[in-house]
Amino acid sequence: MPIVNMKDMLHHAYDHGYAVGAFDLVSLDFLQGILDAAERAQAPVILSLAESHFDAFDFALLMPAVEAAAIRATVPVAIHLDHGASFESAVKAINLGCNAVMVDASEKPLQDNTAITSTLTEMAHGCGIPVEGELGYVPGEEGEDAERHPGKICYTTVAEAQAYVESTGVDFLAVSIGTIHGRMRGKPELDYQRLQQINEAVGIPLVIHGGTGLSDDQFQQLISNGVSKINYYTALSDAAARQIAQNSATSANSGYTGLVKNLRGVIGAETERCIRLWGGAGRAEEVLARCRPWTAVEHLIVYNVEGLDSIGAKNMMAEGRRVLSAIPGVREVFTGEAMKEDDKYRYTWLVRFCHPSVIDSYREHPSHVAFADNHFRPVAGERISIDYLAIEN
Ligand code: 13P
Repeated sequence: MPIVNMKDMLHHAYDHGYAVGAFDLVSLDFLQGILDAAERAQAPVILSLAESHFDAFDFALLMPAVEAAAIRATVPVAIHLDHGASFESAVKAINLGCNAVMVDASEKPLQDNTAITSTLTEMAHGCGIPVEGELGYVPGEEGEDAERHPGKICYTTVAEAQAYVESTGVDFLAVSIGTIHGRMRGKPELDYQRLQQINEAVGIPLVIHGGTGLSDDQFQQLISNGVSKINYYTALSDAAARQIAQNSATSANSGYTGLVKNLRGVIGAETERCIRLWGGAGRAEEVLARCRPWTAVEHLIVYNVEGLDSIGAKNMMAEGRRVLSAIPGVREVFTGEAMKEDDKYRYTWLVRFCHPSVIDSYREHPSHVAFADNHFRPVAGERISIDYLAIEN
């Protein structure tokens, strides 16, 4: 059950002066290596899925494994959409099991970034999901040479940060103070004074993108100025690539399993080094005690239909599955028919919400209102409707 609310998790880090690692994962080796490290260090951890990597794996196929692994963990875990490309990406991520989201509009003018992020925050908060916004531009691509993506750093300003946080309602702010995504030559110059002023102005957990390549001392300075989440990927990817090269040179088994041997181990070792360096080790228990657990709700309706034959009822349910499953916060729509013909209620909807907040946002969502008014209520006869909070302990 240790999927926890990421807002609670990061506020614990913010209040206690350490940072939680948000490690981008692109395969089961990454997933297992990252969680092995968090378990060994007894630390909170964020499993992060970056949309820029979605050509490397099928997001919808990997998410059930991510969620199952997080539920099985003994340490607190949050599942985050990193650098989402659009509002629709965020809805999809939430409905697949992410419990925190970022849509990256940092390349856009401030006004557009603010508008996009405000719309996102309204939707996500309606699902109980915290949001990370990014202001200023961190150039580069995760996993690649920074020289190949030579965008110019656009530093976050204090005044803009304050206005952006106030008008968007974001829960965490990613700032640009000199870091770059990906592999760098040389040591980046970080503007700690700017970071300190932003922290004083906004007072919410700050996020650093482009963790790879920073020195131990730089990490300490970042954390002591309000950074509570550090995004990290390229170094894990490079450790995995080196291991594959070594396997290829030394292994008698040059088939697939020989080439990918011990990727989980080397990814786990680098993750654990970061977790310990950033101060998260040994915090799992206190974080679990502080965090609200992440609990689903089952919206149950049992009902009969009037004026529709069985085929009509099935068509109505097919339309409902299509429309309702796209509403933010809906994890699954199950429709069913009683197996015994004389059962009191012939049909059921079981709609799984990711969080209790979805009870209200779902009821008011235009797609739900239209479906209920035009398709369901006109034919629904006697029925019972109850929302059940999952009991998972
Ligand atoms: P690095 O790949 O530089 O570690 O950055 C990762 C990142 O910021 C993901 O959002």
